Amino acid sequence: MDYKELTGKALKAKEVSLPTYSNFHVGAAVLTDNNKIYSAGNIESSSYSLTMCAERTAIFKAISEGERKFKAIAIASDLDGFCSPCGACRQVINDLCGEIDIVLVNKNKETKIYKTSEMLPHAFSDDDLK
Ligand code: THU
Repeated sequence: MDYKELTGKALKAKEVSLPTYSNFHVGAAVLTDNNKIYSAGNIESSSYSLTMCAERTAIFKAISEGERKFKAIAIASDLDGFCSPCGACRQVINDLCGEIDIVLVNKNKETKIYKTSEMLPHAFSDDDLK
């Protein structure tokens, strides 16, 4: 699948990120099963630990609009290399999006695609709570 539009939206979302303290800009865009895209940038707080990553912000936007099924998430930063989702975001991607494509995009618009289970092997999940 061609993720050009999705990666474009992640790169664009980077522009509205608010990394006041780290100055590390991240954009994320999540694709629903009915081909809608929700995007967001990271948002930081002066109480640093209250910062919210771009990935979780985009996913929570989609969930809060009633979306429940996802196909992919794209993550963009200004790195030459690829910005990989943090551990907390991997957990949330696994819990709320399931086994999807995680599309990393660098500033040259090159991509690398991983599956959720590659990013978070041996995951704790809702199965464990049954
Ligand atoms: N950040 C993200 O938004 N996503 C990632 O995948 C890695 C880190 C944010 C959190 C914080 O605002 C800044 O990048 C530096 O850690």
